[in-house]
Amino acid sequence: MRKKLIAGNWKMNKLNADVPAFFRSFVKECSLEKDRSLTQKVDVLFSTPFLLLESARNQASGLGITIAAQNVHFERDGAFTGEVSVPMLTEVGIYSSLVGHSERRQYFGETDVAVAKKAAVLQAHGCQAIVCVGETLRERQDNRTESVIAGQLAPVFEAVRGLDNIVIAYEPVWAIGTGVSATSAQAQEVHTFIRKQAALRFADDANSLRILYGGSANPKNIAELLAKPDIDGALVGGASLKPLDFAAMVRAALA
Ligand code: PGA
Repeated sequence: MRKKLIAGNWKMNKLNADVPAFFRSFVKECSLEKDRSLTQKVDVLFSTPFLLLESARNQASGLGITIAAQNVHFERDGAFTGEVSVPMLTEVGIYSSLVGHSERRQYFGETDVAVAKKAAVLQAHGCQAIVCVGETLRERQDNRTESVIAGQLAPVFEAVRGLDNIVIAYEPVWAIGTGVSATSAQAQEVHTFIRKQAALRFADDANSLRILYGGSANPKNIAELLAKPDIDGALVGGASLKPLDFAAMVRAALA
């Protein structure tokens, strides 16, 4: 049985000043002060900008909520101006990061090979890597969804040592921030494909790989998405900025 993971991606939003109020409201809405059973049943994660990691970690402390980075560099130190390494994250108690989000690929030129290295380095440090993959609208229209995703996954599956601490997030680029989610059937189809790709390399271990859906997931469509057998959670952008909406999505994962 794969434990569901509901992950928020704050992208470049919020200030440190906003963090305490956000968590107060989220924790209250999930009744987490009295009862931690929600985070025992569902994994909850917030991926925040680097400068918000410590305040988010402090707020989340003891509640069973994971705080993650949105990106990391694959080298441990050196002349890489503007970058942050895995040891820098672990030093401040952060053991998870997104890698290869489509915005990183699109606006910052991140390649499949760099994404694979980041995933492998996180794993080697005992950290979780949430590896994002997904096709553009054009690629889908050209019937290239599977070949694009296979191409993004191949170097990752080559670079990592097994699937421990690896999560895949399927995020069709055309669904991100557009209000147009993939249908649950479209997502399930791609998730099945991703699991098959994982099985080609890791055999039965692919059965325990968590595959999240991301792209305009919201409190209204989450239940239908999570009802699909290969959708093991969600990576949520816009709706994760609102504590009540995100709490509703976490609760939906209990069903
Ligand atoms: P969205 O973003 O939920 O706002 O579409 C998802 C993501 O980019 O992770």
